[in-house]
Amino acid sequence: MLKVKNICCIGAGYVGGPTMAVIAHKCPDVKVTVVDLNEARIKAWNDKDITKLPIYEPGLENIVKEARDRNLFFSTDVEKAIDEAEMIFISVNTPTKTYGLGKGMAADLKYIELCARQIAAVAKTDKIVVEKSTLPVRTAEAIKNILDNTGNGVKFQILSNPEFLAEGTAVQDLLSPDRVLIGGDLDEEGQVAIQALVDIYANWVDRDKILTTNVWSSELSKLTANAFLAQRVSSINAMSELCEKTGANVNEVAKAIGMDSRIGSKFLKASVGFGGSCFQKDILNLVYIAKSYGLNEVADYWEQVIIMNDHQKRRFAANIVKTLYNTVSGKKIVFLGWAFKKDTNDTRESAAIYVADDLLNEQANIAVYDPKVSQQKILSDLNYLGTRSETENSESVKVYEDPYEICKDAHAIAILTEWDEFKDYDWQRIYDKMKKPAFVFDGRNILDGEKLNKIGFVYKNIGS
Ligand code: NAD
Ligand code: UDX
Repeated sequence: MLKVKNICCIGAGYVGGPTMAVIAHKCPDVKVTVVDLNEARIKAWNDKDITKLPIYEPGLENIVKEARDRNLFFSTDVEKAIDEAEMIFISVNTPTKTYGLGKGMAADLKYIELCARQIAAVAKTDKIVVEKSTLPVRTAEAIKNILDNTGNGVKFQILSNPEFLAEGTAVQDLLSPDRVLIGGDLDEEGQVAIQALVDIYANWVDRDKILTTNVWSSELSKLTANAFLAQRVSSINAMSELCEKTGANVNEVAKAIGMDSRIGSKFLKASVGFGGSCFQKDILNLVYIAKSYGLNEVADYWEQVIIMNDHQKRRFAANIVKTLYNTVSGKKIVFLGWAFKKDTNDTRESAAIYVADDLLNEQANIAVYDPKVSQQKILSDLNYLGTRSETENSESVKVYEDPYEICKDAHAIAILTEWDEFKDYDWQRIYDKMKKPAFVFDGRNILDGEKLNKIGFVYKNIGS
């Protein structure tokens, strides 16, 4: 039996940070060190002012405050942490490749390979290496290959332990996961490594919720879960367009089908389109893998989920232009929300970015308010697209800190994120400040349309 006392996690991002904070919180006798090359990020994780953590997640501040400097440490000294640990989690980013073979589809594994090479170079004692990042099926083979060829006699076991947390509910998801998945080798040494990780989670997760499988099933299950979840959103969004043409209401349709226990009620909220760092990246990766095995029908099937999502974002922007008498040139359009969902400051692949880009192409002036996203982030998201110059973006996009001030002289408001506070605004006060007719495009179906119509707004939502 192997009892792990020292854990290292490479990557202090949206997954590494909260995941390790919860392990440290639940296993006070295990030392957990989270390392990252990004000095600013580590500095923020160590900030005495707990509100300055680099990521926003409800409940995270308390967990970090309790465990930090007791058995939870954040550091840039990657080598020292690798050297000391018996178990090393790799939780670095695996974005879609932007160059070379597989560009725009395959996962870029350069950060994973760098980690493997660094572990190989530093390790003087046997290590369990845990894939926490989402990886293409059979990546463990490549990692093992790098580690086993160092020639320094150290033994490595590779486990796959994909993370299923969703941003905005990460702490809750980590404290009470639907399941924990651990894949490892079937031989005796593999089983010892699996058990060591099971023992960590068993400190707070019921044993029957900890699934163990072979490595390849575990790696593929993560891509499959994200594909299924995203597919539900694209399916309901496809129906939302049909609802708009037929007089059906997508909220009513979702409720009616969700009550069928075979379908279930979750993940059926029609929206302006899904965002986030995972869904698109992981489905593109799945499509790439299927194509690489010559499975073109499988690839086409899943690719349609992305095609539908792109269409949903584009048609939301097009509907704003069409409704505002076919032109938004010079008009002030307010965006309430920029994050890809509520309760996070993450904006990766947020629908807001693409809707803004389309409206900027139509010469709109965009004004953005998001309770957790900074002006710098909003402009850098748009600059990253490379559609126009940084100067043009900063001239056409203004960021406000007051949700009432922003609405002054606006032609329309678009809800891009479902932040709860938007529901409680004084909508009469907002209406009074706007140009008339005053339009609201609710990309999240969170507002009371009847109430807004009574005030005088022209209210448009998704799917009715
Ligand atoms: P992130 O970009 O927030 O964090 C990754 C961190 O790794 C960055 O801070 C980066 O500086 C660091 N890093 C990269 N290479 C490094 C190296 N060689 N040494 C030290 N640090 C290095 O990414 P994330 O959102 O935390 O995602 C990490 C992985 O988890 C991805 O594979 C992702 O697909 C997966 N995942 C993400 C989520 C999510 O909700 N964000 C959920 C489940 C799984
Ligand atoms: C997702 C998976 O849920 C999680 O298990 C995995 O570990 C990482 O990827 P995340 O991207 O953080 O998590 O958030 P999620 O709640 O899945 O939402 C993704 C996107 O879909 C958001 O833009 C959200 O607004 C949208 N969505 C979700 C809908 O539009 N409708 C829904 O019914 C659900």
